[in-house]
Amino acid sequence: MSHNDTRTALVVLSHHRSDSLTAHIARRTVTQLEDAGYTVDLLDLHGEGFDPRMNTADQPDWNDRDKVFSPEVEDHMRRVLAAEVIIAVFPIYWAYVPALLKGWIDRVWNYGFAYGRSKPRLAGKRMLWLGLAGATADDGIIPAIKTMLDTQLSASIAYYCGLSDSRTVVLPDAEERPQRLDAVGNLEIGAAVTGAARDAHFAAFERTAAQHVTDFLTPVGIPA
Ligand SMILES: Cc1cc2nc3c(=O)[nH]c(=O)nc-3n(C[C@H](O)[C@H](O)[C@H](O)COP(=O)(O)O)c2cc1C
Repeated sequence: MSHNDTRTALVVLSHHRSDSLTAHIARRTVTQLEDAGYTVDLLDLHGEGFDPRMNTADQPDWNDRDKVFSPEVEDHMRRVLAAEVIIAVFPIYWAYVPALLKGWIDRVWNYGFAYGRSKPRLAGKRMLWLGLAGATADDGIIPAIKTMLDTQLSASIAYYCGLSDSRTVVLPDAEERPQRLDAVGNLEIGAAVTGAARDAHFAAFERTAAQHVTDFLTPVGIPA
């Protein structure tokens, strides 16, 4: 790719509320990409009414890797193909992606499109998985979640689909009331951070998210 070409990005937002922190971070990521010269397609899965449930039209036909899927899925496939970089922004649910995003992968990253060809169509694309976690940064669950995401998203899905680069990021402290399990399994919910401390908390959160996006866009060895 010449550096004069317009770069393209797909931001996949997986959240049911447009006023969520997740949606906020997704919108900031869109702006950040645009400022970096990308043409951005924001795919708001819930806002666009995406149904994560697998259906007959979109299940793979193992005898036909050229199967034509539902118009909705074919449209999403075109949007994936058009993007050089893909950034998924989602809340971490049970140490993984929410069902909405999982269903998008199930239906759209289909046989004959995302995998199952000697020349993978997603080869050369780069992907960042940006997960917001309610747990606090010092919670021992955070590295465990990171390992889970690396294994399931990068080492499994992205590897299987021939993506050239896939990275996961866990952003802890997404809640204003810190939560942790105590030694006997009760959920301790701390006091909400308020006022200037709250502003500082979320400003730091935004900076951390933006830094991860910057790092992703300027990988070692690839000039910006
Ligand atoms: C069903 C569900 C499961 C969750 N599982 C986890 C989890 O495994 N680890 C974690 O740190 N936070 C977990 N959380 C907290 C969310 O990650 C957190 O509420 C979210 O990132 C906050 O962003 P939002 O305001 O945009 O929803 C869970 C929340 C819900 C609703």
